[in-house]
Amino acid sequence: MWQLLPSTALLLLVSAGAQAADLPKAVVVLEPPWNRVLTLDTVTLKCQGAQSPGDNSTQWLHNGTLISRQTSYFIKAASVENSGEYRCRTDLSELSDPVQLEVHVGWLLLQAPRWVFQEGEPLQLTCHSWQNRPIRNVQFFQNGRSRKFSYTDSEFHIPAAASKHSGSYFCRGLIGKKNESSEAVDIIIQGPAVPSTSTFLLHWPQIPFSLVMALLFAVDTGLYFAVQRDLHSSMGAWKNSKVSWSQGP
Ligand SMILES: *[C@@H]1O[C@H](CO)[C@@H](O)[C@H](O)[C@H]1NC(C)=O
Ligand SMILES: *[C@@H]1O[C@H](CO)[C@@H](O)[C@H](O)[C@H]1NC(C)=O
Ligand SMILES: *[C@@H]1O[C@H](CO)[C@@H](O)[C@H](O)[C@H]1NC(C)=O
Repeated sequence: MWQLLPSTALLLLVSAGAQAADLPKAVVVLEPPWNRVLTLDTVTLKCQGAQSPGDNSTQWLHNGTLISRQTSYFIKAASVENSGEYRCRTDLSELSDPVQLEVHVGWLLLQAPRWVFQEGEPLQLTCHSWQNRPIRNVQFFQNGRSRKFSYTDSEFHIPAAASKHSGSYFCRGLIGKKNESSEAVDIIIQGPAVPSTSTFLLHWPQIPFSLVMALLFAVDTGLYFAVQRDLHSSMGAWKNSKVSWSQGP
C-alpha cells in the first residue's frame, strides 16, 4: 500500500496546479515567423490571449523586465540587444511560455518557422541575406553535403519531412562578389508520437484503482496459500507427534 502514496501525492499536486492556472496561457506569435533574424530586420511580436472588452493592459516582458503595454511589440531595426526571452500576458490570460529571439550579425542566416518537425510535415528553409540583398548561386547543405543549388532561389522546400532529413544545415551564396556562408543550425525530425510522460500522468487516476485490485488479489492469494501451508504443517506435526507418541512406550 505504501507504493500508492507517491502517486496520490502527485495527483494532489497535479490538481492543485490545474486550479492555480485556470486562465489559459497567452501565446507570443512572431511575424514574420522567424525566431532567428539579422540585425536591422523588422520583427513584430503579437500577444494572443483573451482580453475583456475595453481593456488594453497587455504586458510584455523581455529578459524578465516589463518593456511595453501595447498589444504588439514592434522592433523596427533589430539589434543584438533585442535578443533574448519574450513573454506576454493579457488581462484574461496567464503569462505565456517564453519565445527566444536571436538577432545575429552576418551576411547570411538560415531561417525556418521551427527547428523541430514531425515526420510527414512540410519543411521550408530560407537563406536570408542582410537587408535582403540579392543572393546568387544559392546552395543548401545538410551534414556537409550539398542538397540544393539554384542561381536565384533562396528557399529550400521539403514537401514531407522524414527522419533522414534530420541534421545540421547551412546555406551559401554570392552577395555581390562575396562568397558568404551562414552558420549551421540543427533540424530535428521526430518520429510518430509515442505516449509521453504527460499522457501517462493524465491516465494516472485509473492506475491506483487497478493497482489496489491487483494488490488485494495478491495479498488474498498469498494469505490463502500461507494459511493452507500452515494448516498442512501443523497437521503433519500432529501426525508426527501421534506417531512418536505411539512409538513411545
Ligand atoms: C488604454 O486605453 C485608454 C483609452 O482607450 C488610454 O487612455 C490608456 O492610457 C490605455 N492604457 C494603456 C495601459 O495603454
Ligand atoms: C537579453 O538576454 C539576451 C540573452 O541572454 C542578451 O543577448 C540580450 O542582450 C539581453 N537584452 C536585454 C535588453 O537585457
Ligand atoms: C564559395 O567558396 C567555396 C569554398 O569555400 C567554393 O567551394 C564554392 O564554389 C564557392 N561558391 C561560389 C558560389 O562561388
